[in-house]
Order: sequence, then C-alpha cells, then structure tokens
Amino acid sequence: MRVGFVTAALVAGSCLSGPAAAWFMTIHNQIGYMADQLITPQARYMIQNILEPEYQGSLGRAAAWADTVSRTTAKYSYGWHWISARDEPPDNCNLHYHRDCQKGGCVVQQIWNQTQILEGCVQRLAYGNYQPDVDCQQALKWVTHFIGDIAEPMHTSLRAFGGNTFKVMFNGTETNLHQTWDRWILYAGTNRPEGFPADYFDPYFQYLLSRIQRDEYRIPRDQWTMCNLEIRRGTYCPELWAQDSNAIVCDYAYGRYENGTDLLESGYAAEAFHIVELQLAKAAWRLAGWLNTVAAVNLRGMDADTEMDPLLNQQPN
Ligand SMILES: *[C@@H]1O[C@H](CO)[C@@H](O)[C@H](O)[C@H]1NC(C)=O
Ligand SMILES: *[C@@H]1O[C@H](CO)[C@@H](O)[C@H](O)[C@H]1NC(C)=O
Ligand SMILES: *[C@@H]1O[C@H](CO)[C@@H](O)[C@H](O)[C@H]1NC(C)=O
Repeated sequence: MRVGFVTAALVAGSCLSGPAAAWFMTIHNQIGYMADQLITPQARYMIQNILEPEYQGSLGRAAAWADTVSRTTAKYSYGWHWISARDEPPDNCNLHYHRDCQKGGCVVQQIWNQTQILEGCVQRLAYGNYQPDVDCQQALKWVTHFIGDIAEPMHTSLRAFGGNTFKVMFNGTETNLHQTWDRWILYAGTNRPEGFPADYFDPYFQYLLSRIQRDEYRIPRDQWTMCNLEIRRGTYCPELWAQDSNAIVCDYAYGRYENGTDLLESGYAAEAFHIVELQLAKAAWRLAGWLNTVAAVNLRGMDADTEMDPLLNQQPN
C-alpha cells in the first residue's frame, strides 16, 4: 500500500498540472456576484479602492483571476487552491491543517496569509495613504477565490488527487469525480449544459442569493460561518470550512458512489445537486462575512465623512 501510495504521489505531480482548477471559473464569478450583494458599505469601499478599475468594484468580476494565473504568471500559487487531507474516504474522513497542508501552501493557509496582506492594505486605506499596489490587489483576489474553492469537497481530499484520477461516467460520457463536483452536477441540476456567464450575475445564482436572504436552506445560514470572525485570527475558520467540505467527501462524494453506474442516471447527481447548491451559498456567505469583518476591523475609526457607497445589504456576521 505504502509503495503504491508513494508511486501514485509521484505521478500526481504531473496529473495535477492537468484538470485541477476548482469550481469551474465562471462559477467562481457567480459566487462573487452573490457576495457582492451581501457586503457592507465599508467592505464595498475597501473593494472599490483596492481592486483594479477593470473589475468595477465587483468581487464577481475578480473571482476567477486566480485560476488564470495559477499555471502561468503565478505558478507558485498552483497548490494553494486545495488542501490534501490524508484520510481514507469513504470509510474515514478527517482533515487537520498542520498534518495536511502541503509544502508550498494550501487553501487553508493562503486564506489567512493573503488576508494578512490585505489587512495591511486596508489599514493604509484607513489612514489615507493607500496607493494602488499589486500585492493588495492580488491578496483580495486570492481570498475571494479561495473562499470559493474551500467549499468544494473535492478540494479537501488527497484521494485520487482530489478526484481527478477517479474516473466516472456522467450522462454517458467518461469524466472524473473532480469535474463532476466542479460543474457537471450543477450544470445537470440547473439544466444549463453550457454553464454560466463570467461577466454578469446569472438569474439562477440570483435565485440562490434570494434563498440565502430568506434563510431557506436546509441548514440555517447562521451555522455556515462556523466560527466567530471577529476573533478569527489565523487559520481557525478556514480549517473548519475545509473540514465541513471534507465530511462531504465521505458522506456523499465517495460514500454514495457505486462503481459501474452513470452518476446522472443513477440519481447520484440529483441528490448531490442540493449539496452543491448549499456549498455555493455557504461560499458566498462566508466570503462576504470574511471581507465585511476585514473591512470593519481595519477601517474602524476612519473619518465618518469618508465617502462610502450608501448601499446597505444583508450583513453576514
Ligand atoms: C504564509 O505566511 C507566513 C507568515 O507570514 C509565511 O512565513 C509563509 O511563508 C507564508 N506562506 C506562503 C506559502 O506564502
Ligand atoms: C445528457 O446528454 C444528452 C445527449 O448529449 C443531452 O441532450 C442532455 O442535455 C444531457 N443531459 C444533461 C442533464 O446534461
Ligand atoms: C470499478 O470497476 C472496474 C471494472 O469492474 C474496475 O476496473 C475498477 O477498479 C473499479 N473502480 C473502483 C473505484 O472500484
């Protein structure tokens, strides 16, 4: 077993340079568009001032940037999109940051690392001496992206390298479990074989947002953050989010998989669809809550007459 594992791990280096990006890119955009509607005026002020003008102050527009650089100009960030729990799905799922964060960084660590960078930027903003800064822009875009990734179950398990080498049939086509969770379940459940747009807020995701606003998911939204963001220092909250996703790897992703079945025809996808919807909603809610807190903590004491966007939306805490 061990030898096999090590050999597989060596092969993985090359496998992972294949199809590893999480939630298909435009789904990241849509998570961001949901979060755009959940942020406070302070967070909006922070985002508008830090993001490059081309994003027009929208997390949705900026949310997929991280995937565009992970294999080109920022190769070092490639592994930051996931954490590889060394567990044994479907029998035993567990995830521990200190055990499982791979060399070079992982999603749990980078949510915190990039947040620290962002906080320094926001403090400068609060003191009125912020100038456009690539590190700040990137930190905000990474945090936005990674809080999406961490809600994708396949990003929290080493098995089959996040499901990338786990072949499955879906609607008569061979694919893998990673892609299945990244998009095929969602595309089938929404009857959107072409997927979703990058540049505007899709009506289906508007509907997911409206269900957040009415608190209509199976698990109440006040249980999604799982930690007090005000005392969130460190990797504590992201680790809980990764564990939350990791549980789905056992409970459903592998636990309900039956070899030889087509995942669309067997009913696997139809039930998984409800899980995916909830994970997408959690991602948007956590992202907004996280950035709202970063803005609230670091812009505290800023002159009250500083111009802020007056839009007041729902405020996750
Ligand atoms: C994350 O931040 C810590 C502390 O600032 C630093 O030592 C570490 O190198 C960073 N890791 C990565 C992968 O950037
Ligand atoms: C399954 O494949 C068929 C044939 O290509 C296609 O018409 C149909 O839309 C697909 N269904 C889903 C849910 O993707
Ligand atoms: C599924 O079944 C095929 C053929 O029976 C076999 O080769 C493969 O190893 C099985 N996969 C798993 C994950 O059990």
